[in-house]
Amino acid sequence: PVGELVDREKRHLNYLRVSITDRCNLRCLYCVPEGRIPKLGHDDILSYEEILRLIRIGIRLGIRKVRITGGEPLVRKGAIDLLGRLARIPELKDVSLTTNGVLLAANAQRIFDAGIRRINVSLDSLNPEKYAQITGYHQFNRVWEGIQRARKIGFAPIKINVVAMRGINDDEILDFGRLSIDHPFHIRFIEYMPIGNSRTSSTDQILTPEIQQMIATIGELIPVDNGYSDGPARRFRIAGARGEVGFISALSHHFCSHCNRLRLTADGKLRACLLSDHHEPVKEVLRNGGSDEQIAEIFRTAVRQKAARHDLCPNGFTTVKDQMQGIGG
Ligand code: GTP
Ligand code: 5AD
Ligand code: SF4
Repeated sequence: PVGELVDREKRHLNYLRVSITDRCNLRCLYCVPEGRIPKLGHDDILSYEEILRLIRIGIRLGIRKVRITGGEPLVRKGAIDLLGRLARIPELKDVSLTTNGVLLAANAQRIFDAGIRRINVSLDSLNPEKYAQITGYHQFNRVWEGIQRARKIGFAPIKINVVAMRGINDDEILDFGRLSIDHPFHIRFIEYMPIGNSRTSSTDQILTPEIQQMIATIGELIPVDNGYSDGPARRFRIAGARGEVGFISALSHHFCSHCNRLRLTADGKLRACLLSDHHEPVKEVLRNGGSDEQIAEIFRTAVRQKAARHDLCPNGFTTVKDQMQGIGG
């Protein structure tokens, strides 16, 4: 590991997740609160030039991986150009995108041509009606088409994120598991995390051991080692499958001790932990003529603040007031 972004727990932070917009073309139950939510204005969010400058400063400090998130990143004009510019920065070993897939079919070829190879797509149901209940829109077919198109174009791996919710999509766990048999997808079951005011509650959380036991009825679960570009998922392959299944269980099996992440929010804050609202504002310094060194110091301060672990208890209440949309997951 290189770089100077090492926190009090001796974790090397080399991965920056960048939310480029709080806007989204879906309203997922577990993400968007009831009612109208105030949207950030044009001047509230960082420009692409500002984002690129921050990333370049991050690289000097040791950032080697960048993931673009949202809201839905593809709703922001110019997102693919940004991806292309990032993909051409030699120091970045990995540039990836997390998307809800609604705009993927239309854009997959351009994203690939921009140099991106890794995408993660959110898909919480394989049933079009259920998909609409969870996300608020009848977009299942379009997302599915986007995933298929991305596979044909050659993206790999394609990770599919399934937020597993008791009583909502738990009847589809086996279908999702089976999907990994015939397709090269990595299906990841994500424990619901109580963040902000979503319309799901922490009791909707499915306990990961149950899902793992259900999947194991399909076939033997063979553990897969985590590679360089892997995040918090515990990975397995069902014997004979082309793809994988994985579990991202921030509450029941927290992975804080090997966390390597920093986040840049859409409105220009450096956030050291998804599940802690502590942050360092960086936008104002950027806009007031701050030097690279001053900005580097804000990175160091954010890193010094990083909590050893989050303090949400396993079936617990949330202390995270910020909404998911501007943080990017
Ligand atoms: P890879 O780099 O491909 O491993 O990506 P990832 O799995 O980290 O990213 P993705 O954006 O697909 O997120 C999948 C799920 O993991 C989402 O629910 C995220 O909120 C969650 N997640 C990602 N990073 C962290 C983290 O550092 N802490 C916690 N608690 N959850 C995280
Ligand atoms: N808990 C767990 N995962 C969430 N995501 C969004 N909100 C939550 C939540 N409250 C997931 C999305 C997307 C990823 C970036 O984060 O499904 O795949
Ligand atoms: Fe949009 Fe992603 Fe939130 Fe769903 S989880 S509403 S796709 S930002």
